[in-house]
Amino acid sequence: MKSLLSVRGLGRSDLEALVTGASAMRDALDRGDLAERTLAGRCVANLFFEPSTRTRLSFDLAAQRLGANVVTLNPATASTAKGESLRDTVLTVSAIGADILVVRHDEVGVPQAVADWTGRPVINAGDGVAEHPTQALLDAVTLQRHFGGVGGLRIAVVGDVTHSRVAGSLIHALPTLGAQLTLVGPKAWMPEDSPVEIITDLDSVVGEMDVIYLLRVQTERGGVIDDEYVARFGLHEIRAARMRPGAMVMHAGPMNRGVEIAEEVAESPRALVTEQVRNGVPTRMVVLDLLGRGAT
Ligand code: CP
Repeated sequence: MKSLLSVRGLGRSDLEALVTGASAMRDALDRGDLAERTLAGRCVANLFFEPSTRTRLSFDLAAQRLGANVVTLNPATASTAKGESLRDTVLTVSAIGADILVVRHDEVGVPQAVADWTGRPVINAGDGVAEHPTQALLDAVTLQRHFGGVGGLRIAVVGDVTHSRVAGSLIHALPTLGAQLTLVGPKAWMPEDSPVEIITDLDSVVGEMDVIYLLRVQTERGGVIDDEYVARFGLHEIRAARMRPGAMVMHAGPMNRGVEIAEEVAESPRALVTEQVRNGVPTRMVVLDLLGRGAT
């Protein structure tokens, strides 16, 4: 693998290898083992043109744990703020010695463009409404570790599907790993063509699922929060009480508490949200290591 731009090119065995590797890395981190410094002498550049907490910091830490030098571009203080084009900015970062570029941008396809411009390995850290591949991978790691496998799980992805790049990657990755995925939400936020089942009534399926995966309402991309949405699709305590014994709640974060997820549910033993975050570093270590092995 030269770059990780999408999960769509990954088959079941590719995904399983990444998930298994990341889970083993998580065990190693939990034991306090030091990772092999496979990126020593290499430079990882974080280019985040949209806000991020968990993805940017976990890529930063993952790269450091593999021994890389890490540089981070802040678009607000970079020469982009003086009008430098995206292409010139990216070529500058490449010219100063970045070996692997981690890119988040609000336009679909920018990570692919960065790969084309630079010829360097690129990781898509979220492009517009399209994809967020490492989020789907760390979510699969979280499911694997909690349930012992992803195959056969019934998972509802709930909410603002059309505006969600997390959903864009989950829709491919989880069924490829054998999960039975259902999209749940207002019709207006559902794709016109979907390879998986679409439902517009959360209450009709909440008691059947192994996992309720709540999506953040993406107000920056056109999602609108209103009382009707919260009433029909928010996972509040009464609705969560109808979930099966052992069923779990996931959310990629950041959470709109009181909107798609109630405070009490986010803090309940059903919530895997902190585990998702914790699996971010080992998952990104495995991806960076893989790309580093292919990079010249
Ligand atoms: N899940 C996720 O992408 O979070 P950040 O926007 O904080 O990186």
